[in-house]
Amino acid sequence: MSPNWNVTDLRCEYKRNPLGIGEREPRLSWKLKSSERGARQSAYQVQVSTDNDFQSALTWDTGKTASDQSVHIPYGGDPVQPRTRYYYRVKAWNAQDEASDWSETAYWETGIDRSEWTAQWITAKLPTAEGAPEPCHQLRTAFSLKGPVVSARLYATALGLYRVYVNGRPADDTLFAPGWTSYKHRLQVQTYDVTSLLLEGANAIGIMLGNGWFKGNLGWVDERNLYGEDRAALAQLHVRYADGSEDVLGTDDAWKASAGPLLMSEIYHGETYDARLETAGWLGAGYDDAGWAPVDILDYTKEILVAQENDPTRAIQEIRPVSRFTTPSGDLVLDMGQNMVGWVRFTVDVPAGTTVQLNHAEVLDKEGNFYIGNLRKAKQTITYISRGDGPATYEPYFSFQGFRYVRVTGVPAEQLDGNFVGVVIHTDMEPTSRFRTSNELLNKLQSNIVWGQKGNFLDIPTDCPQRDERLGWTGDAQVFVRTAAFNMNVAPFFTKWLKDLAAEQLPDGGVPFVIPHVLKPDSHSSAAWGDAAVICPWTIYECYGDTRILENQYESMQKWIGYMRSQGDNEYLWNTGFHFGDWVALDAKEGSYIGATPRDLIATAFYAYSTQLLAKTARVLNKAEDAAGYEELYERIVEAFRQEFVTPNGRVASPTQTAYALALAFDLLEERHRPRAASILAEYIQENKGRLTTGFVGTPYLCHALSRYGYTEQAYGLVLQQEYPSWLYSVLQGATTIWEHWDGIKPDGTFWSDDMNSFNHYAYGSIGDWLYQVAAGIETDPERPGYKKIRIAPTLTSSLTLVEAAHDSMYGEIASGWETLPDGRIVVAVTIPANTEAVVTLPGASGTGSGVHESGTPLAEASGILSVQPSAAGLQVELGSGTYRFEYATA
Ligand code: BGC
Repeated sequence: MSPNWNVTDLRCEYKRNPLGIGEREPRLSWKLKSSERGARQSAYQVQVSTDNDFQSALTWDTGKTASDQSVHIPYGGDPVQPRTRYYYRVKAWNAQDEASDWSETAYWETGIDRSEWTAQWITAKLPTAEGAPEPCHQLRTAFSLKGPVVSARLYATALGLYRVYVNGRPADDTLFAPGWTSYKHRLQVQTYDVTSLLLEGANAIGIMLGNGWFKGNLGWVDERNLYGEDRAALAQLHVRYADGSEDVLGTDDAWKASAGPLLMSEIYHGETYDARLETAGWLGAGYDDAGWAPVDILDYTKEILVAQENDPTRAIQEIRPVSRFTTPSGDLVLDMGQNMVGWVRFTVDVPAGTTVQLNHAEVLDKEGNFYIGNLRKAKQTITYISRGDGPATYEPYFSFQGFRYVRVTGVPAEQLDGNFVGVVIHTDMEPTSRFRTSNELLNKLQSNIVWGQKGNFLDIPTDCPQRDERLGWTGDAQVFVRTAAFNMNVAPFFTKWLKDLAAEQLPDGGVPFVIPHVLKPDSHSSAAWGDAAVICPWTIYECYGDTRILENQYESMQKWIGYMRSQGDNEYLWNTGFHFGDWVALDAKEGSYIGATPRDLIATAFYAYSTQLLAKTARVLNKAEDAAGYEELYERIVEAFRQEFVTPNGRVASPTQTAYALALAFDLLEERHRPRAASILAEYIQENKGRLTTGFVGTPYLCHALSRYGYTEQAYGLVLQQEYPSWLYSVLQGATTIWEHWDGIKPDGTFWSDDMNSFNHYAYGSIGDWLYQVAAGIETDPERPGYKKIRIAPTLTSSLTLVEAAHDSMYGEIASGWETLPDGRIVVAVTIPANTEAVVTLPGASGTGSGVHESGTPLAEASGILSVQPSAAGLQVELGSGTYRFEYATA
C-alpha cells in the first residue's frame, strides 16, 4: 500500500453521485493523486454493488485489471435495474505495482424506466380572459403516507416549464426544467430526491406550469405554440417505507388546478405577477382546494421520455448592483456592473396594488439613456403588483433576462439600495479554467469570454440571451465549442444538444440552422453552421477522450457529409445553396452581413474539414472501411478545392484574411505552398494596420493560422490590438461580455444598428481557444485525446511578461505558464496530472538543454524527465506527472 497514491474524485458520466442516470452502461472515471513524479496507473479494480458495504450484492467486480485507463470505463456488470442506487469504489495500482486504498464510495442512481410510468399527463383547461395572456397554472394534490419514509424519489417532466414543490418546499434547486430539447423526439425527465421533504401522514405536492419554450413566443416572427397547444405535467412519486414496502403516486384526474398570481410568463418578454392573487397555502397539505377545478387527462406520448443528461440549470452566482443613478431622461436605473443573464430578485415594501416594473437593458446609449432598441421584440419586463402587507420578495419563475442595467419604476429610490440582487443563471457546468497574463485588458477579455459562456449556455448553446432569438444557432456553437470546453466541463451539455441535433436532422442529412429546430422548415444546412454536426462531437472527443459521443453521433456525422456530397453536380465541391458565409465580417459589402470571402470557398473548405474529421472518427471507432472511403473523399475535395480556389503557384484566389486562414488551418494548400500563403496572410494584416477583417467563420482560425507558421508576433498583435476593430477595442469601450459585432458600439459612441446588435454573443470569444492552446500552450495530443498525453508549448511575446493558464482535465489539473524575468531569463512552470504524460516545448531554449534548470537542478539531473530533444521551436522535454519549474536564458 503506498500512502502517496490515492484514487479520488469518482465520477459517473462526468458527475459526482448523480441521480436519474439513463445510461445502461454508464462510464466511470477517477483521478489519481501522488506526490511522486511520473505516477502512473498500471492496474485498477472497480467494484459495484447495490449495498454500500460491497459484500453480498456486488453487481460488478473487475478484479485487478491491468490497464492505464482511469477515465470512461463503461460499467460491465449485471444489467442495471431502474430506480436503483449503485455504489462503486476503485482501487488502483501504480507503476511499482503498489495498491492504493479503496477510494471513498461513490454512487449513481438509475432513473425511471419508460415502462414504469403509471402516472398520466395532466393539463388544466381554465378560461382565460379575452385578449389576456394565458396565466401560469398551479396543479396540486394532497395525499397521506402510511409510515416513516426511508427514501423517496419524484420523477417529473412537463410540456412547458415546471417547478415542483413538496409540502411547500421546492423539490430541489433546478430551474427551467425540463430543459429545452427537440420536444417532438425527446423530453427529459428530472429525478428529485424528496426524502427529506415528505412527512408521515398528510402531504401535498404542487406544480407550477408555464409556457416556456414549448408554447411561448419563440423566434423573431413571434410564433407561439410551436410544440403544442396544451401545457401538461407528468409526475410520479416512489416512496419506500421503513418496513420495505413501497407506494407510488402519480399525476392523475384526482389532481386539482387553478390559475394563480403569475399572469404572464414568457422567455423573451418577462413576467407579470399579481401578488394579490396569491393562493395562500396551496402548496401545503392542509389547504382546502374546494374552489379548484379538476384537471384534464391529456393523451400524449411517453415514448419520447429520456433521462436528464445535461447538468441542471441553476442560480449560480449573485451580483450586487455597483451603482444607482438617474439617466438624463429621468429614468431610475441600477447598474449591475456586468452584462449578465438571469434575473433580479427584489424586495419591496409598497402599498397594495402598486405596480413595480423592471426593464432590462444591456447598454446605455451615447447620451447615457436606457437603451432597449437592440432587444427587438423581446420585452424583458418584470411587472409585480403588490399585496401591500409588508416587505415582499419576488424573482421570476420561467423567464430570463440578458442585461447589465435595470430600470425600475413604482418603488421609492431608497428602497433599491440593498434590495435588488442580480441572480446569474446557467447550466451548472463545472468551471475548469484559470487564465491570467501581465496585461489587464487581456485578462478582462478572458473574463468577458467566460461571461459569454455563462450567459449563453442556459441548457442549450444560444447565439445571444437578450433579443427575440436566444436560439441554438449551430454555427455559433461550432465556433465556440473548443473555448467552451476549456472554460467549463461541457461534455454533458453537448452530449444532450448533439442528440437533439441528430434528432432534428433532415432525412437527407441536412442540419437545421438552429437546434432545437424552431425556424421555417427550409432554414437548414449552411456551411460552417451544419458542420456543428461533426466539429462539436469531435471536439468533445478530443477534450474529454469521450469515444461514446462519437459512437452516438456517428450516423449524424455521416449524414451531414452525405448531404454536402449530394449538393450540386460536382460531388467534391459545394457551390450551391444558401450560406451565411463569413457572417458579419468587416469586408462585407455596404449593407450586407455576409463577408467578402466567396461562400463556395467557405463551403468547400468546411466540407473538406468535416470529412477529414469524420475519417478520423471512423478510425477511432475501428471502422476501417468507412475510414478509407472518407479519406479518399477528403483527398478529392482538397484536390477540387485547389483547382477551384488556388492558383497553380499556391495563392488563394480570394484575397481575404478568412480565405487564407481557412486554407491554412484546414491544410488545404499543398505543403510547399503553405509558408508563402502564411506570409501573404501576415502581409494582409499588416496592410490593414495590424487589424482583422474576419467574421464568424474566419476569426476562430486567424491567429492559429498565423502562429502555426511562425507569425506569432502578428497573432499576438491582433489579440493585443486596441484600435477598432479588435477584441480589446470592445474591452476599452467598457464591454463585460463579447459583442456580436466588432463595431457594436462605434468609436463615436453610436451603435451598429438596432436590428442585430447583441452585446452578449460568444462567437468572437473563440479567441479563448488560441489563448489557452497557443499563448499558454496547453493542448491534448490528438492521438491520446482527453489530455492522456499533453502537449505544452507556450508562446512567448515581447508584448507580455507573463501568461499563465490551468485546465481541470478528466485526469486533474494541467497548468502551464511562462514568465520573462527582469534579467531576461525565462521561467516555464507546468503541472501534469498523475496517469498522464507530456511533451513540454521550452521556447527559446536550445542545444542540449545544458543551460536549463528545473526547480534549481540542472535539467540532466532533474527527476521525472523521460527525454530531452532539441527542435526548431525550442527544447522538447518529455516528462511524467508532477509540477516542474524550468528556468533558462534564451539563445
Ligand atoms: C444570430 C447568429 C447566427 C446568425 C446566422 C443571427 O441572427 O444571432 O449568431 O449565427 O443569425 O447567420
